[in-house]
Amino acid sequence: MRILGINGSVKQPSRTATLVAELLARIAQRVTATTEVVELTEAAPILFQALRADQLGKNGRAIVEAVEGADILVVGSPVYRASYTGALKHLFDLVDFRALEGKRVVLAATGGTPLHGLMLEHQFRPLFGFFGAVTIPTTVYALESDFTEYALTNPAVEARIERAVAELFDLLPAASPAGGDLAHPAIRLVLRETAAN
Ligand SMILES: Cc1cc2nc3c(=O)[nH]c(=O)nc-3n(C[C@H](O)[C@H](O)[C@H](O)COP(=O)(O)O)c2cc1C
Repeated sequence: MRILGINGSVKQPSRTATLVAELLARIAQRVTATTEVVELTEAAPILFQALRADQLGKNGRAIVEAVEGADILVVGSPVYRASYTGALKHLFDLVDFRALEGKRVVLAATGGTPLHGLMLEHQFRPLFGFFGAVTIPTTVYALESDFTEYALTNPAVEARIERAVAELFDLLPAASPAGGDLAHPAIRLVLRETAAN
């Protein structure tokens, strides 16, 4: 199974990078998988050389293919102007519209104000709705004040990370492109009953 983290921040160091890394670490505790991270600080200068997917060079195509080929995505962005970053949007503008169908996506964001936490619901989740991906119900939002020197120091955010990862494996396993090994017995039962009727 391939798990890909994407950090939409265009700065380093990055609080969002910390959130994405913590989510990936918790996921890796539960499943055997390779985890990689696309950092937009490095990827964006390559991707912006192309305005369309057919203009991508070798390196840009490799980044887009990593996204398209992942089984699970952990996508984080800082809030910029009440949305996710433009650099992150450009990456997803280059991703094939069929490539993420049915894939599970964990969403995370960091921001300066609690007032913009709903960016996750009103901006971020609909992007993945377009792709037909399955976003995990619990999202993770952290404020600048939840970090000390870019390390996460608010236990409430840690608990939210734990909850999102638990949901990833427990609530939506039927969507797993990895197959039935993660499938929840209750969902298998519903599927059997549906097939029988
Ligand atoms: C250009 C820019 C726009 C921003 N716009 C918002 C915003 O609209 N709402 C908000 O809560 N924070 C905003 N912020 C603050 C960042 O979201 C916050 O500092 C975030 O933690 C940065 O993440 P990073 O450390 O991963 O780069 C903005 C920051 C920048 C640089």
